[in-house]
Amino acid sequence: MKIAVLGAGNMGTSFSKSFLKYELIKAENLHLITRNKDKIRKLNQEFPGSKVSAFDEISELDADLVIIAVKPQDFAFVAENILFRFNEKQMLLSIMAGIKIEKIQKLFSHQKVVRAMPNSPSLLGMGITGYTAAEGISFSELMQIERFLNSTGRSVYMEDENLLDGVTALSGSGPAYFYYIVDAMIKAGTEMGIEENMAKLFVKQTMLGAYHLINNSEKNLEQLISDVASKGGTTEAALKTFGENDLKGIIRKGILAAEKRSEELSR
Ligand SMILES: NC(=O)c1ccc[n+]([C@@H]2O[C@H](COP(=O)([O-])OP(=O)(O)OC[C@H]3O[C@@H](n4cnc5c(N)ncnc54)[C@H](OP(=O)(O)O)[C@@H]3O)[C@@H](O)[C@H]2O)c1
Repeated sequence: MKIAVLGAGNMGTSFSKSFLKYELIKAENLHLITRNKDKIRKLNQEFPGSKVSAFDEISELDADLVIIAVKPQDFAFVAENILFRFNEKQMLLSIMAGIKIEKIQKLFSHQKVVRAMPNSPSLLGMGITGYTAAEGISFSELMQIERFLNSTGRSVYMEDENLLDGVTALSGSGPAYFYYIVDAMIKAGTEMGIEENMAKLFVKQTMLGAYHLINNSEKNLEQLISDVASKGGTTEAALKTFGENDLKGIIRKGILAAEKRSEELSR
């Protein structure tokens, strides 16, 4: 299989690295397309044996799968200025946030479109991607795409494209919520006199350990919480403050605001 990546930025290059790492493609079958010609040399060094070209120099694209990994705000420019035409058999996989399949089909005059919403831990092969496909894409084509997505972490097929707004708000933006909470905990640690490096270590290892407990315990989240929060104890004092300030409600509102923004952007 030959793959072209239109937009060799963070996601485009990390997807490419995962495909190569898991030997899903050979280096010579990967074609990276960049806007910035100054990046060509660096990309050639980073991807030995692969082809690297500038967007405005390609008049033909020899690829079975084309990954669209430019920012959503650059998509219209790409669609208007593209010098090549997709052939009927080529499959497009868009990872652009908030751009609907229908719009991609219309602007590229091309039907075979799969839309995916990955997240940044894809960089480490620990991402999660929700994806959906245009009508007319066969089951075997979808399985082929899923194999590629799974090299970046896990992937889940969504029947309803509208749910990708929720996926964007939950897992696409999710890593930032996690960093936000980790940051708040570290700051509380330093306020209590713990050195920043040490506070970071305590918080990061706590998050890691708690994550593994969620995955390895038969207990649900409420039970896990009550295991830590004994009556009249320290955890209970913290949870009481969180409850009084409706922290859960605030987090819920934030995530729904992200979903709403994703909907707005896709309009
Ligand atoms: N980062 C995330 O966590 C995340 C999560 C889910 C989905 N996504 C989606 O993934 C896509 C890429 O995000 P990113 O974080 O990887 O952004 P990024 O690092 O800015 O990558 C986008 C790349 O596209 C290039 N580009 C722009 N116009 C181009 C053109 N005409 N021809 C060729 N290349 C062009 C940019 O080139 P320059 O270097 O010249 O700017 C840049 O290298 C976005 O659509 C985003 O919505 C990202």
